Amino acid sequence: MERLTGEIKILSDEEKEGLDIAQITEDEKAEGKRKIYIESYGCQMNFADSEIVASIMRKEGFATTSNKDEAELILLNTCSIRDNAEQKVRKRLQTLNATKRNKPEVKIGVLGCMAERLKTKLLEEEKMVDMVVGPDAYRDLPNLMNEVEEGQKAVNVFLSREETYADITPVRLGSNGVTAFISIMRGCDNMCSFCVVPYTRGRERSREPQTIVNEAKDLFEKGYREVTLLGQNVDSYKWKNAEGEIDTNFAQLLALVGDIHPDLRVRFSTSHPKDITDDVLYTMRDYENVCNYIHLPAQSGNSRILELMNRTYDREWYMQKIDRIRDILGDDCAISHDMIAGFCTETEEEHQDTLSLMDYVKYDYGYMFYYSERPGTPAAKKLKDDIDLETKKRRLSEIIEKQRNHSLERNERLIGTTQKVLIEGFSKRSDDFLQGRCDENKVVVFPKENFKKGEYVNVRIEECTAATLKGHAVIEELA
Ligand code: SAH
Ligand code: SF4
Ligand code: F3S
Repeated sequence: MERLTGEIKILSDEEKEGLDIAQITEDEKAEGKRKIYIESYGCQMNFADSEIVASIMRKEGFATTSNKDEAELILLNTCSIRDNAEQKVRKRLQTLNATKRNKPEVKIGVLGCMAERLKTKLLEEEKMVDMVVGPDAYRDLPNLMNEVEEGQKAVNVFLSREETYADITPVRLGSNGVTAFISIMRGCDNMCSFCVVPYTRGRERSREPQTIVNEAKDLFEKGYREVTLLGQNVDSYKWKNAEGEIDTNFAQLLALVGDIHPDLRVRFSTSHPKDITDDVLYTMRDYENVCNYIHLPAQSGNSRILELMNRTYDREWYMQKIDRIRDILGDDCAISHDMIAGFCTETEEEHQDTLSLMDYVKYDYGYMFYYSERPGTPAAKKLKDDIDLETKKRRLSEIIEKQRNHSLERNERLIGTTQKVLIEGFSKRSDDFLQGRCDENKVVVFPKENFKKGEYVNVRIEECTAATLKGHAVIEELA
């Protein structure tokens, strides 16, 4: 669950194990209760939504389980961002259907973006689906469940202008007990021509700031030490007062959450280059606990392509944003990107512009994709998906290769420094090592000694790969 936004993700075995542990502790009182099994795909907002779904169903007397064989309701919270995301879910539905043949009483529901995009078509295409529920209709799940039990197929894909689930305390599924995600807004009002999200998630709306602060405070009191504020475009967060004037913008929200406790780290994702303000950068500078890491998707380094993508900025504007970040926060702010290779009509020179933009920025990480046409989007309607798959893949591999070099270079910069690390648990490879993240969001691995999950520790960085920093805990001031 490292990816903060957009990644297509099926739980790895390791993560499923993590889920087991968390769910067993979560649902200690599960005995005798009806059980649901939830699998989440796509971005962190989808994962966060699954936690809301678990909370709604728990109030109805259901317990979550990590063992699908004991569940009477299986929910797949799905993603539509690229074609292969949907294909994964279709394959999964087929496997589940095979199990269902022996157990006809088990019901299967599709939630999330695919439910919203395909609506009743899902019932026709995938015969084994009993329930289709869009991202704004989760409060209706108990009613829909009743309908299904009466032998009907149930659908609710109504998109709302208001729903933020502000009053629902998520059940933290698969949590490490240290870091948590908080949705601060839903939907997206941008119209990037390649993107399906505005259609699957509806209009942008922000959640009441006090409910966000309360959720973060509550997490801190329960021992959590890091929250990530989530939205498709967090910088356009705005809460309006009764008179309709903006009373809290994103920079102010960051400060409100930052004020909760110096030991509560605050991160956020995703930032749209057109909306991130100097005030946000100043807040990051002024609050030690607001972490120095910005996910700033570029999508392309070429102005003509950016225009076709309707990203509303050009190459120069994006570069100036990067300069601004460096002016205010210096070199010790990690920056990551999303990039799309082979968008409609992209020439070889235009692809080179993406590579040269990467050289200019030297990103710490990147999430890189080749273009996948999504039905109904402006690009699908107006532009030709004319770059062949082989070329798309080759351009993508060049982007990935460059990123690997930059990630390594950016990590090597930290060798010899001391980083404040929030410990998240054992390292993936060995229980003799712990792992956590530094301020810049890089994974740091170090020998366990007597340190524990949830503590902060200063680690002297001694070596690194493109993905991980390694070192030893030290008792000294931060360098
Ligand atoms: N709201 C975020 C991104 C959400 S989707 C933002 O504006 O940056 C996550 C990423 O998926 C996008 O940044 C984009 O790089 C990628 N993506 C979206 N639609 C895509 C498509 N049709 N084909 C390939 N990649 C896509
Ligand atoms: Fe999609 Fe653009 Fe909205 Fe991001 S900002 S979710 S890429 S439309
Ligand atoms: Fe997220 Fe995928 Fe939907 S990226 S918003 S789950 S289309």
